[in-house]
Amino acid sequence: MWNRDEQDSQFSEMIEARLSRRGFLTGTAAVSAGAFLALNPVAKAVAAKPTSSLLKFEPVPASTADTVVVPKGYKATPLISWGDPIFANAPEFDPSGKQQSAAQALQFGDNTDGMSLFPISEDRAVLAINNEYTNYEYLFDHQGKNMTSDDVLKAQAAVGNTIVEIVRKDGQWMIDRNGKRNRRITANTQMKMTGPAAGHDLLKTAADPSGTMPKGTFNNCANGQTPWGTYLTCEENFNSFFGANTEGSVNADQKRYGISAKPSDYQWQKFDERFDVTKNPNEPNRHGWVVEIDPNDPNSTPLKRSALGRFKHENAALTINKDNHVVVYLGDDERGEHLYRFVSKNKYQKGNDAANRDLLEEGTLYVAQFDMEDKALKGQGRWLELTFGKNGLTPENGFNSQAEVLIFARRAATQVGATTMDRPEWVAVHPNNEYVFCTLTNNKNRGKEGQPVGGPNPREKNNYGQIVRWMPVKGDHTAEMFAWDLYLIAGNPTVNQGNLYAGSENINANNMFNSPDGIGFDKAGRLWIQTDGNYSNKGEFEGQGNNQMLCGDPITGEVHRFLTGPVACEITGLTFSADQKTMFIGVQHPGEELQASNFPAGGNSKPRSTIMMITREDGGIIGA
Ligand code: FEO
Ligand code: CA
Ligand code: CA
Ligand code: CA
Repeated sequence: MWNRDEQDSQFSEMIEARLSRRGFLTGTAAVSAGAFLALNPVAKAVAAKPTSSLLKFEPVPASTADTVVVPKGYKATPLISWGDPIFANAPEFDPSGKQQSAAQALQFGDNTDGMSLFPISEDRAVLAINNEYTNYEYLFDHQGKNMTSDDVLKAQAAVGNTIVEIVRKDGQWMIDRNGKRNRRITANTQMKMTGPAAGHDLLKTAADPSGTMPKGTFNNCANGQTPWGTYLTCEENFNSFFGANTEGSVNADQKRYGISAKPSDYQWQKFDERFDVTKNPNEPNRHGWVVEIDPNDPNSTPLKRSALGRFKHENAALTINKDNHVVVYLGDDERGEHLYRFVSKNKYQKGNDAANRDLLEEGTLYVAQFDMEDKALKGQGRWLELTFGKNGLTPENGFNSQAEVLIFARRAATQVGATTMDRPEWVAVHPNNEYVFCTLTNNKNRGKEGQPVGGPNPREKNNYGQIVRWMPVKGDHTAEMFAWDLYLIAGNPTVNQGNLYAGSENINANNMFNSPDGIGFDKAGRLWIQTDGNYSNKGEFEGQGNNQMLCGDPITGEVHRFLTGPVACEITGLTFSADQKTMFIGVQHPGEELQASNFPAGGNSKPRSTIMMITREDGGIIGA
């Protein structure tokens, strides 16, 4: 567990120094330099930090090999790949691409993404996994060029979630196809809308005049886990599944969410009117939410939690504040969109999960505003409330209810003056509950109109990304104010010198990468960082190789490369067995767009998204 005495004293001093400054608390004066560890090329005055006591593995070099490489003494073993059966009566995977929708509905979905492990006993657990989208070039023998109605059903069954029990035998976890909790949730699973937006006119459709019973979840990117035993799956680029058979027009709100009325690449609207926005203009409003699922009850109805706002959700980083309010940090992954915080109305009651079950139904949503001190790369910020009737969220400005504020959270965020960010991806709260990290993956549009360079987004045409971290005032996650700095600025110090594109001082030729995306802490406070970036290994990205996973010490700033992925993949999703001796990570879309990969089976096999289990040959804790 987190050892405050050994590892946290430096941060504690920093918090003290920062929060005792009147200027910070009143929000008027700049925060002094040096309060945070200044791990950036502008502030070179900071002394070198001692070698991390957290990072005990031997780092691996960048790689372009079509395999998963892990440190010496570690091994990586596949757990489950797209198309593997999750029920005893399910057909085996057929690589021909001719398998029908009924088979896919009983098999592991495509494009594994965020996931959480829920222990049942020492050697049994349930894994809840997101299946973000699907790759037509591998899903079908015709690669999507000759879609039938069953092909649309098959694609709809390839996305959503997979819930599956795993058992450990002789130290090795494996899928239990007879697990009582095993379940597929797809684009056609019945859900229920809850919270302030439920039943609003904007959520009503011909098929559901109540506006409370949406069907399906898709583009489930990353995730969250609650202490009352539920899984949070976050709907991200839902717009890509909507279209129209004949080109039509869209309004400004639809446009802000990327909805267009023209034939979509997935072609669902051809056979399923629900996805034709000219026929069902409100259907997209029923997507873009955080969905709460009970992984222990395969008959439960997933609940869309409207109080957490509608946008392109990345993950849901939940923490219990010291006053027992539930706080959830939420990124909206689009260039120039925002970072959000939800605070529950009611309080968490330890041991009373029945009462906790609806804590995400009511609360207050906020959006972040960061101060933009010139070139400081640190400063303060505040949470702006997104409540109808406050901060200009009024009828004069086009908001008529809290439901509208939540359904059009992006427009509400703009109205209150939120900071445009470089694509907020995952947020992770440190196990000491005092500070929070968020990956800002990249943003080629930074510097263009409406997206000024500065604050936590310091580079024009940002192709590498950065990680921002913040501490709420007095460690109170419900506080208005916070202090922030940049934990790292990704870059390429061999291609760029003497500017921010070289990266921060904790980035060097041996650990460089681009586009940080998935992040998460283990129990000891190691920060695991996964990438979803440019894997060309050329030009600005020369020497960075395939997508990868790194491990950072959140105090010293040291970052070491832990793992490299196969060709044309993204590494995304991480969770651990309760004893931290097995780490589960996702290899998403190896060989995407028909690039040369045969991961994981090798030979001439079809590449398949796969969950990998990382273990140590000596059975020890991962990373230690
Ligand atoms: Fe699905 Fe923003 O990544
Ligand atoms: Ca992501
Ligand atoms: Ca990404
Ligand atoms: Ca991806």
